[in-house]
Amino acid sequence: MVRSLFIILNAVASTLSCSTHSNYRSMAYEKHQIMEEIPEPPRDDWTYEASFNWGRVNENYTLCQTGAQQSPISLGLNNGFSRNHRLRFDYPDKVTGNFYNWNYGPAFTVINEGEDWAQNPSVSYDNETLYLKGWHIHCPAEHSVANDRSKAELHLVHVDTEGHEKVVLAIRLDPGHDNSIFFEQLPPMIGFNETKMQQEIGIDIKLALAAVQNFNEFWTYEGSLTSPPCEEGIRWFVARQIFFTSVKQMQMILRASTYSARPEQEVWLHRINE
Ligand SMILES: *[C@@H]1O[C@H](CO)[C@@H](O)[C@H](O)[C@H]1NC(C)=O
Ligand SMILES: *[C@@H]1O[C@H](CO)[C@@H](O)[C@H](O)[C@H]1NC(C)=O
Ligand SMILES: *[C@@H]1O[C@H](CO)[C@@H](O)[C@H](O)[C@H]1NC(C)=O
Ligand SMILES: [Zn+2]
Repeated sequence: MVRSLFIILNAVASTLSCSTHSNYRSMAYEKHQIMEEIPEPPRDDWTYEASFNWGRVNENYTLCQTGAQQSPISLGLNNGFSRNHRLRFDYPDKVTGNFYNWNYGPAFTVINEGEDWAQNPSVSYDNETLYLKGWHIHCPAEHSVANDRSKAELHLVHVDTEGHEKVVLAIRLDPGHDNSIFFEQLPPMIGFNETKMQQEIGIDIKLALAAVQNFNEFWTYEGSLTSPPCEEGIRWFVARQIFFTSVKQMQMILRASTYSARPEQEVWLHRINE
């Protein structure tokens, strides 16, 4: 164990917002190090508590106010489920990445040294293939279903070959009876006061897909990032199934999280399930 061995990295920090994932790895990285110190992420100039104001905070956040396909939205059984698309996954058994706190909850970014995104785990639908950049958790859930809001929501963010965010798979999380084997494989959660720490781990992300029947049923729509700059052109797939963790596991997630749900947006040009 070399838990005490920290390395200060000189990598440039970039904003951590919903759907944006940063890798802080440096050349100085040592194979056996389990925890490393990373630069303090820059402070956001927006807050979840004042999301009504995002369009006024920064000229780059105008879409938060004027966009016609903003996320999240509320969904219901009356929307039916998507019939026009099928998801096909090509996720390996083990994915190596950095586990950290995105300032609001647990997060994981796939390690990709060369930014050759086509090497990452992938999801395909229609004629599109997108590559997993990482995942993060919001508390409470951002998408409600039939007026029910889950305790948390897992976002699996996928990018195109140029690294642009294009697809988010959303999985609602709630406490149930049994331990989730997906969460069991994670090390102790890094708290939101420890955003300067990250840890390299290898995990099986297929276990999270399996918890929702591999997206056999879902809603899909054309939406946006759920935090500034609220960029559009993101296709959402929201699993019908809820992913249940044990009560203890949910409490671990909640302890590492702080309020991070944007209020739901009016449905406008979202083309739900089209
Ligand atoms: C808006 O984004 C541009 C390009 O990234 C950046 O140069 C500029 O500083 C941003 N404006 C503000 C007010 O943050
Ligand atoms: C996929 O590509 C094929 C061949 O280029 C085309 O015929 C088909 O319409 C495309 N399907 C979709 C859903 O875009
Ligand atoms: C987390 O950080 C905030 C702000 O620095 C501080 O007020 C709070 O006491 C810290 N909470 C814990 C649990 O350490
Ligand atoms: Zn998100």
